[in-house]
Amino acid sequence: MFKDIEHLVRLAAVMLLALLLFIVFRAAVVPKSFGQYGHYRGAAIAEIASRPVAIAGREVCEGCHTDVADQKKLGSHVVLSCEACHGAQAKHADDPANVTPPKLDSAVVCARCHEANSAKPKAFPQVVTADHSGGIACDTCHQPHKPNIEDTPAQSAKTTTGKRTGAKP
Ligand code: HEC
Ligand code: HEC
Ligand code: HEC
Ligand code: HEC
Repeated sequence: MFKDIEHLVRLAAVMLLALLLFIVFRAAVVPKSFGQYGHYRGAAIAEIASRPVAIAGREVCEGCHTDVADQKKLGSHVVLSCEACHGAQAKHADDPANVTPPKLDSAVVCARCHEANSAKPKAFPQVVTADHSGGIACDTCHQPHKPNIEDTPAQSAKTTTGKRTGAKP
């Protein structure tokens, strides 16, 4: 029954060698902490946690810019975080005297969310910016922090009080 077994032994030897190579190669390339918590590299968590924080969070912004926060509460942008428009500003929040957030171009920022697109929910307010404003900056007519037109006269396109509290001058 086993008289012509030789070719099978050769095949088994080749497969064993392949398995051995695989085990050695795997041990060499799989990071040490892989599988520590799950099917990923455990050390990645500490690495990500040690990155500098870029986003301060709206509570921090509102602590100093109380005037903007109060105004934002009155309009439909109350749902937005400051940094959704102003970008990650942790560096400014830590050191407002030396780091000033860049001026925003409202024609760009507003269109990012409000440019009409049939993929957006129908209930979301959207405009075809080319027809709606014809290139005029959106904050000529809309106050960015309180954008609803009916209660915002065009001439008050700046934050109403201009006061900033809790900050270095
Ligand atoms: C510790 C107080 C403080 C915190 C926290 C703070 N700011 Fe400010 N912010 C200031 C001061 C002071 C100025 C005025 C500095 C200037 O004009 O250069 C300012 C100015 C600004 C300006 C206007 C810049 C310009 O054009 O004059 C923007 C926009 C702004 N902050 C956004 C933010 C956002 C967004 C956050 C939250 C991530 C934030 N700030 C957190 C104190 C603060
Ligand atoms: C819908 C987008 C949007 C959101 C949300 C937003 N801002 Fe603004 N903000 C703007 C635009 C646009 C300007 C006008 C252009 C500029 O000064 O960069 C502005 C201007 C400012 C200014 C300077 C001029 C002013 O009106 O006083 C400050 C300070 C400011 N924002 C702070 C904040 C803070 C704090 C928050 C969160 C409570 C916030 N913003 C949320 C878009 C936004
Ligand atoms: C990050 C996304 C985002 C950006 C950027 C943004 N908006 Fe909005 N906007 C919203 C959301 C969310 C609402 C609330 C929609 C709702 O109530 O269903 C809103 C509401 C509005 C409304 C009220 C519409 C209505 O009928 O109630 C106007 C007007 C408006 N935004 C104008 C602007 C202008 C002008 C800018 C630029 C300064 C801007 N938006 C930037 C998300 C955004
Ligand atoms: C010349 C003034 C003016 C400019 C500039 C302007 N708007 Fe408006 N916007 C209005 C008026 C007035 C209304 C309210 C009447 C209406 O619905 O058309 C309005 C309404 C809106 C609405 C609510 C639409 C809805 O269906 O509820 C959004 C969103 C909006 N504008 C976004 C923008 C954006 C984004 C820009 C910049 C690209 C911009 N607007 C520039 C005057 C302006």
